[in-house]
Formats: sequence, structure tokens, C-alpha cells
Amino acid sequence: MVYYIRFLKTPRFQQQKKSVFISALICITTDLGDDFLAENVDLTASWIQHPSHKVRYQTAVQWQAGSRQLSILLGPFSPNDVAGQTAVLKIRLPDVEKDVLGEHSTPLVISGCSAPFGPGREPAEQLIRRDLNIGDNVRPLRIWEETGNSIARHIWDAALANIIFLEQVITGTGKSMPVLNQLLNSGKSNLQVVELGAGCGIVGIALATMLANCEVLLTDLPEVSDIVTRNINEASPKSSAAIKFQTLDWDDPTPNLTQGPIDLILVSDCTYNADSLPALVSVLDRLVRGSPGAMVLVALKRRHESEAVFFDLMRRAGFASLQTKVSLPAQWEQVDQIEMHCYQQESGVKRA
Ligand SMILES: C[S@@+](CC[C@H](N)C(=O)[O-])C[C@H]1O[C@@H](n2cnc3c(N)ncnc32)[C@H](O)[C@@H]1O
Repeated sequence: MVYYIRFLKTPRFQQQKKSVFISALICITTDLGDDFLAENVDLTASWIQHPSHKVRYQTAVQWQAGSRQLSILLGPFSPNDVAGQTAVLKIRLPDVEKDVLGEHSTPLVISGCSAPFGPGREPAEQLIRRDLNIGDNVRPLRIWEETGNSIARHIWDAALANIIFLEQVITGTGKSMPVLNQLLNSGKSNLQVVELGAGCGIVGIALATMLANCEVLLTDLPEVSDIVTRNINEASPKSSAAIKFQTLDWDDPTPNLTQGPIDLILVSDCTYNADSLPALVSVLDRLVRGSPGAMVLVALKRRHESEAVFFDLMRRAGFASLQTKVSLPAQWEQVDQIEMHCYQQESGVKRA
């Protein structure tokens, strides 16, 4: 289970008598926000000049086991030091310059960078940016999340595992699934990809960053529209790859999503709520019936037993799967296993 640095109070410049400080309040929690990191961890807090990326000041802080929050205070600075400055605050592990996503490289604690703040912009917006490196020849991912308690506007562990898996399949290193390898390495132009419950859009954006010639349509409820649009605008897709967003509620009739048949449907961490599973499976069924041969890649972190109904519903809709697992780090040098299921619908199956 990976832990994420989050801002409880986003950073701001704070005047105290004749000095100025940068202050913020952070916590380190799971994706669900239901558990705090229970190990001592040394961190580095850096004031980075915006937009030059120059590090102006950095200091060591420590997250202590058992805590629920940590105050960050950088300074004192003289008012002249900060006059006219726009800043961002980055919090990271001291020995991790870059968060590299991989089965053996993903850090236990994912770093975070604030939105810009400074005179006229105080405090920073309620956002945090993840800068994630996927592979040697892939531009880093910059993904914004909200700092509040939203389910949709966050990155979830299964999304990280899905990216790690897709990278292994595309590069032919690590885990493989022959049918998916074939699809992603077929060189097909305009590979049509749809992501359901995309949240911040991290998985679809990562795929378009790694794979040329694909059209990725991210879908979710209207509430993610702002954050996903921000992330699409900051994305660096590969040549001839495109990323768009369209709202899609699984409970509404499914519109036509793509011009041609869909090749791949991505789903990450969308099975946590058993009540929404019939609607999710019925959307998958309708989409694949309209695009026979489409593959469905589901990344799933088992959170409770009720999720097992997903597998029954998929079976009844005629989907058969290949499976593997991707490891993410967990506390006390343990590992967490995320399930990857690659589904195809058997032909001739009657509508469930
Ligand atoms: C746990 S989040 C996962 C987000 C993202 N896939 C990730 O892994 O980072 C589940 C997502 O499913 C979406 N979702 C839940 N019910 C939905 C529905 N009825 N229609 C469309 N999306 C839905 C939520 O809005 C949310 O973005």
C-alpha cells in the first residue's frame, strides 16, 4: 500500500513580525485516506521558485509514526527575499530525486508539489501535483490531484499498478499477456482506447504518453471535469497520440464514444462499491458488444469481499480473463499485490 503526501493546509507565505516564513500542514495517508503512515520517515521540504524551478531553500523534516499531521515551516526569510516571488513547495523523501513508477522502484511515499503561491496568490490552490517517471524514453507524468476528501479527484493505487503493467507490456519487459502485448505493439494506427472511471485521468494519460498513434478517451462523472482537463492540458502525449475527456455516468444510457470500434477499455480501482458494479459491467457489456474483440483491462485492489460480485457479473456477461499481479511497496518492507485482469468477451454469449 503506497502512501501519499497530502496538504491539509496548502502552503503560503506568512509574515511574523519582521520575518517571512513558508508554512503548510501535511499528512501522509493511503489513497483512501483511511490510514496514516505508521513509520518514521525523513522528508525534504523545498521552496522552489516558480516558474524557473530553481531551489531557493530546503530543509529536513520528519514524519513520526503515530502522527496524523505534520507542520512544515521554512524560514525565517527577510521580506526582501520573498518580495515579488511566486513559489511552489515540494515535499519528498530525501534520497528520492524522482518518483519512478516500477515494480521495484515505486517509493513507499509518493512526493507532492503544491500549486504556485505568493504575493497576490496566497495560499496555494487546494491541489497537489505528482511528478512520476515511467520509463527512460517517456516524458514524466505531471498529474494534479485535489487535496480534499473526494473519491474521484485522487490517484488510487490500482492506477499506479496499471501504469506499471502497461509499461511492462509496451516495452516487453517484466509481466506480459500475449493478447495485450499483440494489441499494444501491433503498430495499429489510431488505436481506440476508452477509460471508465478515469478520475484524474492518470492511467489513460500515461498510456498516451507511452504509446504513439492512440486516441484515448477518458470518462467519468462531471465532477472530475476540471481536474482531468487540467491534467490533459499539461500532458505530453507521444506523437499522433491524443487524449480527450467526456462525461459518462454508468447509470445513464451509453452514448457512442468513439468514431470507430474500441480496441481497449481501461478500468482502475472502480470495483470498491459493490452497488455500482451491475451498472459498470453493463456498460462494459454494451461497449464490447458494439466493438467485438475489444479488450478490457481491469486493475483491482481488493478492499472488501463484496467486490467479488464483479467477477460473477463479468462471467455472466460472457467475459473470460487472463490474470496477473503487480507489486507495490507497503509499510515494513512488505508488498501489496494489485490484480490485473485482461478480459475478452466470448462470441455468441447472450445478453445477461
Ligand atoms: C476509486 S476512483 C478511481 C479513479 C481512477 N481510476 C484511479 O484509479 O486513480 C473510482 C472512480 O469511478 C468513478 N465512478 C463511480 N461511479 C461511477 C458512475 N456511476 N459512473 C461513472 N464513473 C463512476 C468515480 O467518479 C471515480 O473517479
